[in-house]
Amino acid sequence: MNIRTFTLTLACLGAGFMAFAQQKITQTSPDKSIVLEVETTKDGAPAYSITHQGTKILALSRLGLVTREANYASGMKLDTFYTGTQDYTWQTVWGEEESIRDHHNLLKTIWKTSKGQSIAIQFRVFNNAVGFRYELPGDSTVVILDEKTEFALTADHTTWWAPSDWDSNEHTYSNTKISQIDATKHLTDIEPFNQFIPDVRAVQTPVVMKMANGVHVAIAEAALVDYGALHLKADREKFRFSAFVVPTADSTVKSVNKLPFHTPWRTVLINANAGGLLTNRTILNLNEPCPLEGDVSWIKPQKYVGIWWEMHVGKGSWDYQKDGVPHGKHAANTQNVKKYIDFAAKYGFDGVLVEGWNKGWEAWFNTMKPEVFDFTDPYPDYNMSELAAYAKSKKVRIIMHHETSAAVPSYERQMDDAYAYMRRFGMNSVKTGYVGYIQPKGEWHDGQRMVNHFNEVARRTYLNQIMVDMHEPVRPSGLHRTWPNYMASEAARGMEYNAWSKGNAPSHVITLPFTRLLGGPMDYTPGIFETRMNTYDPKKKEIIQSTVANQLALYVTMYSPLQMAADLPENYEKRLDAFQFIRDVPVDWSETRVLNAEIGDFLTVARRERGKNNWFIGSITDETARTLDITLDFLQAGKKYEATIYADGKNAHYQDNPYPVEIRKVQVTKGNKLALKLAAGGGCAIAIRQL
Ligand code: NOJ
Ligand code: CA
Repeated sequence: MNIRTFTLTLACLGAGFMAFAQQKITQTSPDKSIVLEVETTKDGAPAYSITHQGTKILALSRLGLVTREANYASGMKLDTFYTGTQDYTWQTVWGEEESIRDHHNLLKTIWKTSKGQSIAIQFRVFNNAVGFRYELPGDSTVVILDEKTEFALTADHTTWWAPSDWDSNEHTYSNTKISQIDATKHLTDIEPFNQFIPDVRAVQTPVVMKMANGVHVAIAEAALVDYGALHLKADREKFRFSAFVVPTADSTVKSVNKLPFHTPWRTVLINANAGGLLTNRTILNLNEPCPLEGDVSWIKPQKYVGIWWEMHVGKGSWDYQKDGVPHGKHAANTQNVKKYIDFAAKYGFDGVLVEGWNKGWEAWFNTMKPEVFDFTDPYPDYNMSELAAYAKSKKVRIIMHHETSAAVPSYERQMDDAYAYMRRFGMNSVKTGYVGYIQPKGEWHDGQRMVNHFNEVARRTYLNQIMVDMHEPVRPSGLHRTWPNYMASEAARGMEYNAWSKGNAPSHVITLPFTRLLGGPMDYTPGIFETRMNTYDPKKKEIIQSTVANQLALYVTMYSPLQMAADLPENYEKRLDAFQFIRDVPVDWSETRVLNAEIGDFLTVARRERGKNNWFIGSITDETARTLDITLDFLQAGKKYEATIYADGKNAHYQDNPYPVEIRKVQVTKGNKLALKLAAGGGCAIAIRQL
């Protein structure tokens, strides 16, 4: 049921400028814990500050836009303001909860330049956040040159940040004070292949901070549409972030927009502890519902396997030939795909991803060729109709792969044909990829041109009833509320780095949920059981810095409605006991509880299977072994449950003893306590079924 109440009060309309000039306008959250104050600086900039339970979160921070036609960042006067309240509950198509309440108080301020040009700034104050955006009226076109939004923190907070890179989100996170933000001290061995870090003091959003009183603050954006992504420049002396919006190919222009236009929402999430951030739904609430009516029952969360890891570990290849001669390592051949389909059917997986099925992989990597792939032309050893019929007979769907190698105009020209081709062969999910420097040359992965492209892919796949998982896109900002077929994206440093770089430290997977995942699900591709890369090549030294129990727990801690069992079938068949958890764990939830959390240190999440009375728990730790005590107070009173616990086995350790998993079953009821013993780099996964 959607209950919607909305009241809007027009306050003080027509009152003179002077009356507002010195005035502070206040709006509070519905529960009064957050107070927003809006005022005008001496030089006429709109400005705001935020207080949470009596503590200043943001000191006075300037606001404003500069367009080719007007300066909305100084010399402004407040003209009018409105206040209002909105309170309704909406149902998710899939997600971490079945329904989400959007309850906020609104303040819309309208400002004028001395020439009478006007801009509105709309604020929404929630019980755990403030969101605001700029709104420009008119019916022509605007060229936005700069955004002057500031976030003036009140002290040198502990901060989790990744560098502002206009071409990649595939970085590890650093944890420093604001005053120590410096990308030059951050770079690891294999950095993202395509990167551009324009300012070593700048960070990407979401950026997350912990204040001295334990309150956690995240700065993020919501509903990134028709604009460059929000990055932030740090003033390391004043502890202040300023908007650093990724520009277009013309570096003096941030965006060109048709009027009326509003920017994406800038959000400040405020929670008493780290765990609160993970159930803070402000970013989703600030996104629009799907604009298209219709049946969405074709959108289904799913688990998949695929021809993927074997290429990353060097066992197979994406390409088919060398110098015109087939080299025999091509993984996406009909016989191998059938093996994966059989495996998926046998163990209950919905999909099989096939990478390397189409022509073009011989010259795809960083070549900047305008035409690389044909999305309707398979390699000669890949029999599409035979495989489509085979998959159908086994009730498994092949998941399409569209690596574009960032040749974007080429993909845009082929999109409709490519989606029609998928439908013809019974496919309803696609994984896209954008490895390489963007074409048209000069555009960035995070700039307006690409933001529009990614959103258009979400819209166009929706129209074709296709679910989409994007790799190398701009990081998500809650648009899966608008396009519920936009299931997941990568937009961060995923599992693949473990196969061929220094890899991801245990703390990385405990930082992602609080940073990158605030905007939307991640296709991290967990579930690697064979964690040593010398299994595939004796010369390789890489290991996955994780125990096997930790890999299982990631299915719960790293939320996604699309989860891969990323390892090779033969590695799972050797460990069917532990594999059972991956088979059982759902990908769609009715409720989510964070039982304990410290960013980068440990995290325990419990989720209830959608529409059922079964719970699943994932708990992970960093390099430090620890015991976490949890209470099963979320179980239903009076019901009996059986818990299957997948814990780190004796002497497990992420570096030298990753494999042991101890599996045991116990009966539990509401209020029971469990002590989860986590090895260094370890984890614990628990499946709790109602009896
Ligand atoms: C990078 C993606 O993240 C990875 O999943 C994929 O296998 C390769 N590109 C090839 O498209
Ligand atoms: Ca990637």
